[in-house]
Amino acid sequence: MYKMDQTKTPIFDALMEYVKRDTIPFHVPGHKKGDGMDNKFKEFVGTNILSIDVTVFKLVDSLHHPKGPIKEAMMLAADAYGSDMAFISIHGTSGAIQAMIMSVVGEGDKIIIPRNVHKSVTAGIILSGAVPVYMQPEVDKNLGIAHNVTPETVEKTLRENPDAKAVLIINPTYYGVATDIKKIADIVHSYDIPLIVDEAHGPHCSFNEKLPMSAMQAGADICAQSTHKIIGAMTQASFLQVRAGRVDINRVQQIMNLLQTTSPSYPLMASLDVARMQIATKGRELLDKAIELATYARREINKIPGLYCFGEEILGQPGAFSFDPTKITVNCKGLGLTGYELDQILADEYHIQMELSDLYNILAVGSFGDTKEKMDKFISALKEISDRYYGTRPAIGNVLDLPGIPKRAVTPRQAFNGKKRCVPLKESVGLVSAEFLLAYPPGIPIVCPGEIINEEVIDYVQALKDANLYVQGTEDPNVEYIKVLEM
Ligand SMILES: Cc1ncc(COP(=O)(O)O)c(C=O)c1O
Repeated sequence: MYKMDQTKTPIFDALMEYVKRDTIPFHVPGHKKGDGMDNKFKEFVGTNILSIDVTVFKLVDSLHHPKGPIKEAMMLAADAYGSDMAFISIHGTSGAIQAMIMSVVGEGDKIIIPRNVHKSVTAGIILSGAVPVYMQPEVDKNLGIAHNVTPETVEKTLRENPDAKAVLIINPTYYGVATDIKKIADIVHSYDIPLIVDEAHGPHCSFNEKLPMSAMQAGADICAQSTHKIIGAMTQASFLQVRAGRVDINRVQQIMNLLQTTSPSYPLMASLDVARMQIATKGRELLDKAIELATYARREINKIPGLYCFGEEILGQPGAFSFDPTKITVNCKGLGLTGYELDQILADEYHIQMELSDLYNILAVGSFGDTKEKMDKFISALKEISDRYYGTRPAIGNVLDLPGIPKRAVTPRQAFNGKKRCVPLKESVGLVSAEFLLAYPPGIPIVCPGEIINEEVIDYVQALKDANLYVQGTEDPNVEYIKVLEM
């Protein structure tokens, strides 16, 4: 099904050739293959990684003007994912998302986005000067997590904003829940605008049919993927996949060049190149193993009193169309512990580190790097903790319904650049917020920068505090004060 030979790893191979030639380095970095580096770091990391920490020259190619091995690696990645071009981001998916947004919208253009986006989306909107039109995602009040937006929400928002220039969705969420992305792609394309996708948590989706459909398979126009989060690349190495047509590939290259360093890390790029080879050639079997192990863990965790690890049974709820079984979300509401507490106990007492925690849940990211032995240690730690806490503490309060989206006064860029002052939250009605206010759970903003604070917002923050739930986002950790714009 691939057009190119996916066993090839051109960036890594060029670096191996550089090492084989025993090249004398009169180029940066100044540690010169580690010879000039202090032993404190070198003795731990070893010299191999330092010997391929090089800079731009013909043999290893240039990220900003790729013509050799980097160009070939980009084309191989595009072939593996079914896109027309794959750009390498060494600024993680955050950098790829900023470039993705700047490629499709400019100053004053409307972009439709879910309200619970990652901060890199907000950064992209500030950098581009675009005007966000928000969609409320669906919330699972029992789990205390936000799922996705539904196709119906996308359709309604587009009907109300036919002048929008692009739609962004998340596929899948951090917790592995995906919406009906194919249906959304068809709706968005009926307006002849691009669907752009934050696929930070889905770079493996194309390679195993038990996983949610990938953005490229669904016909999306661009997607940013954290190859480093889920499959074998090193931290910071991500792809930006582009389909030609509604998006101009040359403009994407220009914007990537505008945003990225002129000294990209070759070890990072080589790790990405090899990770693409691995997932393209062995993805199905490796992911089968990861899915099997995570499914086993889910089954065992669901036998432990006070814990619940959701699976396919949540599908069919609004915003939950398909599910990535490698994500192990453990809901600990029934234990009377918060996710934050459970996370800390696992880290401090068992030296088991979760990916994230919220008020109700902890999230373990599963991958083909896991083993049965390690999974069993996790399960038995959870059993011990349940034995200690189950039935000893009252249950934790429920998620509150979100208030409506406040009116917007200025764009996020104007809010970011505007002059600010700090006022007591209770006296801020009618003023324009310069900060976020986020309700945890489910991690959705109540107010975004540039929106007008109203009575409902103030009452909601009080209700969250009264229910011992969390509200965050302001510089003031107690959320008694908020920064507003001087208008
Ligand atoms: C949904 C989502 N999008 C984007 C990002 C940014 O990815 P990166 O850390 O690779 O910059 C994250 C990071 O956690 C994320 O969760």
